[in-house]
Amino acid sequence: MKGILVATSPEGIIGKDNTIPWHYSEDLKRFKRLTIGKTVIMGRNTWESLPIKPLPERRNIIITRSLIENMECFKSINEALKTCEGDIWFIGGAGIYEEAMDLADCIDMTLVPDSVSGKNCIYFPEIGNEWKESNEKPLEKGSILMHKIYTRRV
Ligand SMILES: NC(=O)c1ccc[n+]([C@@H]2O[C@H](COP(=O)([O-])OP(=O)(O)OC[C@H]3O[C@@H](n4cnc5c(N)ncnc54)[C@H](OP(=O)(O)O)[C@@H]3O)[C@@H](O)[C@H]2O)c1
Repeated sequence: MKGILVATSPEGIIGKDNTIPWHYSEDLKRFKRLTIGKTVIMGRNTWESLPIKPLPERRNIIITRSLIENMECFKSINEALKTCEGDIWFIGGAGIYEEAMDLADCIDMTLVPDSVSGKNCIYFPEIGNEWKESNEKPLEKGSILMHKIYTRRV
């Protein structure tokens, strides 16, 4: 399984000022639950934005043209994938998501209600027709967060 894992605002924004402009512990807990024991692939900005790094108990891969001490860095996603076994989550940001759209089996999307605007906003890339969208459901029973999954059309 290779999946894209993302949370977006109603405007399709994923980040602003190199941070995520909302905080929902249920989403973070779910992120942890899904990614523990797996490989996570992220861009350099996302790496820099992490409050705790590396993400514990996961194989952290960073896509960058530079080198980050003691970390596994690759210049491209395809180069990184050659070294991967098992489940992989692409965890952002926009450049990673865009390239991963051609590689992933699913897009796991949490929808937060927070409206975001202003400068330095980063958007999730356009989702093409090759993707089939599930119905939106609450992330958990009674949650104000919604959730949907995109799978590839066959
Ligand atoms: N809402 C969410 O679910 C979510 C998830 C993750 C991140 N975010 C947010 O998204 C923002 C960061 O995203 P971003 O789009 O600015 O940056 P990013 O994709 O995390 O990092 C960009 C950098 O990664 C490298 N890179 C990315 N894609 C590449 C590719 N396909 N091939 C080669 N190198 C690639 C390049 O590094 P070099 O310049 O070093 O070569 C590029 O400058 C932050 O605000 C973060 O909080 C949100």
